[in-house]
Amino acid sequence: MLLTLVTAGVTFLSLAQTSIQAVTPIQLHWPYPNIIDYEEEVLYENGILGGVVFNCARRFPDTSNSTASAQWVRLAYHDMATHDIQTGTGGLDGSIRFELDRGENIGRGMTLSLRDFRTLQTAFTGMADLIAMGVVIAYQACDGPFIPYRGGRVDAIAAGPSGVPEPQQDLETFTEKFKNQGFNATEMIALVACGHVLGGVRKDDFDTVVEKDFEFFNQVQTYDNTIVTDYLDDTTENPLVASRNQTMRSDLRIFSSDNNVTMESLASRQVFDETCTNLLERMINTVPKDVTLTEVIEPMQYKVGPARLSVSNETDDLVFTTWLRVSAFASNYPRVNDLNPLEKILDAPENPDRTVTLFWNDRRGSFCPSSGCSAPVSDSQKLERVGNGFALLGMEAVRHTFQATVNSTTSISKFWFEIDEHDGSEKVVIDNGGSGYEVEQDDFLVDLAHSARRPGEDSSITLTTITVAVRDARPSPSKVYIQTFDPITPDELPFVPEVKIIDLLLDSTITPKAGYVFYSTPPFGEFTYFDATADFQDGHTLSQQFVRSEMIQILF
Ligand code: HEM
Ligand SMILES: *[C@@H]1O[C@H](CO)[C@@H](O)[C@H](O)[C@H]1NC(C)=O
Ligand SMILES: *[C@@H]1O[C@H](CO)[C@@H](O)[C@H](O)[C@H]1NC(C)=O
Ligand SMILES: *[C@@H]1O[C@H](CO)[C@@H](O)[C@H](O)[C@H]1NC(C)=O
Ligand SMILES: *[C@@H]1O[C@H](CO)[C@@H](O)[C@H](O)[C@H]1NC(C)=O
Ligand SMILES: *[C@@H]1O[C@H](CO)[C@@H](O)[C@H](O)[C@H]1NC(C)=O
Ligand SMILES: *[C@@H]1O[C@H](CO)[C@@H](O)[C@H](O)[C@H]1NC(C)=O
Repeated sequence: MLLTLVTAGVTFLSLAQTSIQAVTPIQLHWPYPNIIDYEEEVLYENGILGGVVFNCARRFPDTSNSTASAQWVRLAYHDMATHDIQTGTGGLDGSIRFELDRGENIGRGMTLSLRDFRTLQTAFTGMADLIAMGVVIAYQACDGPFIPYRGGRVDAIAAGPSGVPEPQQDLETFTEKFKNQGFNATEMIALVACGHVLGGVRKDDFDTVVEKDFEFFNQVQTYDNTIVTDYLDDTTENPLVASRNQTMRSDLRIFSSDNNVTMESLASRQVFDETCTNLLERMINTVPKDVTLTEVIEPMQYKVGPARLSVSNETDDLVFTTWLRVSAFASNYPRVNDLNPLEKILDAPENPDRTVTLFWNDRRGSFCPSSGCSAPVSDSQKLERVGNGFALLGMEAVRHTFQATVNSTTSISKFWFEIDEHDGSEKVVIDNGGSGYEVEQDDFLVDLAHSARRPGEDSSITLTTITVAVRDARPSPSKVYIQTFDPITPDELPFVPEVKIIDLLLDSTITPKAGYVFYSTPPFGEFTYFDATADFQDGHTLSQQFVRSEMIQILF
């Protein structure tokens, strides 16, 4: 365990030197666009993807004889490779999920990779964005450069044209194909070298190329430019250079196509890193021409969670939940070139005296003092999940969770936070750039205190009941429903999530209280999140979006 930790430290340290300065904290206005909020979390905070490729390891149990990181990168290239720069069609659009029956896309790693990504899909983060994030995370996990990431790719709903390069083809064909993808002959050489840093060739897939079950392109599965230098030294074991079968030496044909000029320039580690960062970024940003990508998604220094109000299941109060995530950047983080940086990073500067406080104002009437009502943190969690993006960038993040009791008559209009180090320094106020974080409405609430997940009769399934609270004072809604998003149930290609609409009915088992009546769903099965909506007779609609399954308490 200790060994793993130390290895992880070394992995991000060598990276941190080049990447920390490049990362600047961004402060977005809250509520953040769903896509930025969620993809920032997938990239930096949760360790779900990072855990799969952690330390560039082989898959365990080894079902394919390569690394997940290599498989993710190959998947991305094959998805992108059918882009046509003339018509602006194709590119990184997830169409690969419908194209795995083609010889050009042979290899077990393709399906395994899509399976790695499938449950992370949302209505706004499709398979294509996940494939692109996979490239970013894979290179980071293998000690490679940090590739700037933008979101917003749009998933294709059917297969596109074929045309991924195959190793038996000639140089003219390769050059033409890369030109159509948007890469000239020099860039083709470099992009293939950058890709073939990772993974290798399986005998199951290419029995005319390799003799062993699996042969790596590069002997060591850590990103570096030995793929180039071994080639130039004539010591390479890359099967696409050195295969006994000359027809299948596609990397040799490509690498030598300009008399080794490009390969010689890539023998400089710095040139190699810069070139790969740039070309891999262009690769993942190659999308159909009508798609607009977001800004680069960087880690947020202060991130505020969703604000949820529920009716207490014990008292007549409301329960307000939210969180503040604080991450440490270079300015208040030990510099990597310190004498023993690893030790310092593990002993990161946690101030035990620090307090983080939630404040809020009344929505109607007056109950809170003019300085606002306040509540202390109910839980602080240091995010140390193996392989998350923060760890890979040498950053630290702590999530402070609040669960505050709010007067149900006066309710809550907006909230903000104060961080006090209690060391004489000024308090830091986190208030959405001065405007506070606004609670949009309290007439229609997804009630987390009354909603629950319970084991079904067959205990392998979990049944969920969602309850919403509707303020009594207004005319009753004509329709209350949730739309669930379920990427878990479809367990086979093409892994397209299921979307369902479930109606909620007035729930007479819950006594109206605190000015609210309750509506519930019947128990239902798998989902990762839902959006809840109430339609009112006057045409008015209220909604609560992106309520995630992990927010619903589990009761036994
Ligand atoms: C002419 C262009 C290319 C040809 C002919 C080619 C050919 C191949 C072949 C035959 C394999 C072995 C696959 C298997 O055994 O299932 C492979 C693996 C791989 N290719 Fe390429 N490739 C090309 C370009 C690229 C590019 C541009 C990238 C990415 C930037 C890339 C990334 C990879 C990776 C990461 C693997 C390893 C996959 C694994 O270990 O599972 N390739 N390639
Ligand atoms: C992986 O390699 C092992 C031995 O190295 C071999 O027995 C196994 O068949 C290989 N699996 C695949 C899918 O190639
Ligand atoms: C490809 O484009 C790069 C960057 O614009 C340029 O430096 C290089 O000379 C080009 N290569 C060819 C073969 O056109
Ligand atoms: C080389 O590979 C090609 C294409 O897979 C195949 O047709 C040919 O028989 C192979 N040659 C040898 C000598 O194995
Ligand atoms: C390119 O480099 C390789 C490896 O050193 C060498 O075998 C080959 O002859 C070179 N090709 C040219 C055209 O210089
Ligand atoms: C809630 O606020 C109202 C209005 O200020 C006040 O009358 C009431 O006593 C408060 N309720 C509780 C439980 O403090
Ligand atoms: C009331 O809700 C809280 C979570 O908000 C939960 O922990 C508790 O078990 C619930 N109590 C009952 C009686 O359902």
